[in-house]
Amino acid sequence: MGAIKLENIEKIYPNGHHAIKGISLDIKEGEFLVLVGPSGCGKSTLLRTIAGLEGITSGDIHIGENKVNDVSPAKRNIAMVFQNYALYPHMSVYKNMAYGLKNRGVGKDIIDEKVKDAAKLLRLGDYLNRKPSQLSGGQRQRVAMGRAIVRDPKAFLFDEPLSNLDAKLRVQMRNEIKTLQRTLKTTSVYVTHDQTEAMTLADRLAVVNGGIVEQIGTPIEIYDRPESVFVASFIGSSSMNFIDGKIENNTLCFGDYQFNLNNSPEHQGKVSIGIRPEHFYRSSEYTHRVDFSINMLEPLGADTLVHGKVSGSDTTVIARLNRAYPSDGPMSLPLYFQESELHLFDPETGKRVS
Ligand SMILES: Nc1ncnc2c1ncn2[C@@H]1O[C@H](COP(=O)(O)OP(=O)(O)O)[C@@H](O)[C@H]1O
Ligand SMILES: [Mg+2]
Repeated sequence: MGAIKLENIEKIYPNGHHAIKGISLDIKEGEFLVLVGPSGCGKSTLLRTIAGLEGITSGDIHIGENKVNDVSPAKRNIAMVFQNYALYPHMSVYKNMAYGLKNRGVGKDIIDEKVKDAAKLLRLGDYLNRKPSQLSGGQRQRVAMGRAIVRDPKAFLFDEPLSNLDAKLRVQMRNEIKTLQRTLKTTSVYVTHDQTEAMTLADRLAVVNGGIVEQIGTPIEIYDRPESVFVASFIGSSSMNFIDGKIENNTLCFGDYQFNLNNSPEHQGKVSIGIRPEHFYRSSEYTHRVDFSINMLEPLGADTLVHGKVSGSDTTVIARLNRAYPSDGPMSLPLYFQESELHLFDPETGKRVS
C-alpha cells in the first residue's frame, strides 16, 4: 500500500524558522499529487519530511499501514528524484541504476532483469554502457528515474526534477513523467514552483503558501474556483486580473459600471474582483459589457494579450483575445464577460466571498 497520510505536520528548524505550520494531506494510493507554491514556502521541507531526510517537530506521517515518524529514510522504501540528478559520474548508466539494489544485496540476475526492464521503459536500452557525461539532460533525468524505478518503491518523491532543463525539454520530460507515472501507478508527490507544470501533471494539487496548504483540489477545481486571492493569482497563466470594486445590495460597481448580480454574496462594501484574461470576450453573446482602452499589445501568435484599462478604472488589466489582434486595430473596444466567470474576494482577508 502506497498511500501517504500527513497529519498536522509542523516543522521548526533548529534556528527557530517555522517552515511548516500544520499541514495535513491524504495522498491516495497511486495518486499523482503536486505541491506547488512560490520559492521558500516550504515545499522541499515537506517532501524531505516524507522521505525522512528531515525530522518533524510534531504531527504524524503514515506510509501505507505504517506510522513512519521514527523510521529511517532507507526503511521507508520511497524513492526521491532530485533536480540535480545526483548520478555517479564515474559509473555507467547500468551501474548507476543497479547501485542501490547491489547495496541491498539483491542478486545479480534480479538486478539485471530490473535494470533492463526499467531501461526499456525509459528508452535507455542503447545507453546502458555510457557514462552520465555522455548523455543529454533528458537522458540523465531518465537514468535518475530509472534508479528510482528499479527499487519498486512505495512512492516517488520529486523535488523540482525538471528545473535544470531548457523549456522544450522540460515539456517533453514533463509528459514522459506523466505517462510513466500513469503506467506504473506508483503514488507520487511532486514539488514545483511552476504552475503550468503543476496543472499539467497533477491528479490533485496542493497550493502551498507560507508553510500551510491554502487549497487542495484537481487542477480544474482550483482554476475554476480559487478560494483565495493568493491561489487565484498563483494558478493560471497569464495571471488573473484584480480590479477594486464594491458590492451594494445586489449591485457590483467598478470603474464606470454597475452590474446586477444574480448570485449576490452576503459580503457588502469593498471587494476585489478577479477576472482571468481569457474571460474577456469580444462577442456580445456575453451579457456584461465594458469599454476597454488599449495601452499595449503582446502578440503570442494564436492569441494576443491586450493590456489596457476598463473605463473609469486606473488598474491595468490584461485581456487574452483569441486571435491575433491587429497592431493597427482600434485602441479602444468593447469587451464582454459573464458573472459566472468573476471571482469576488474580500480585500481585507483575501478570501473568496461568493
Ligand atoms: N536547514 C534549514 N534551516 C533553517 N531554515 C531552513 C532550512 N532549510 C530551509 N529553511 C527555510 O525554510 C523555508 C522553506 O524552505 P524550503 O522548504 O526549501 O522552500 P521551497 O522548497 O518551497 O522553496 C525557507 O524560508 C528556507 O529558508
Ligand atoms: Mg525547494
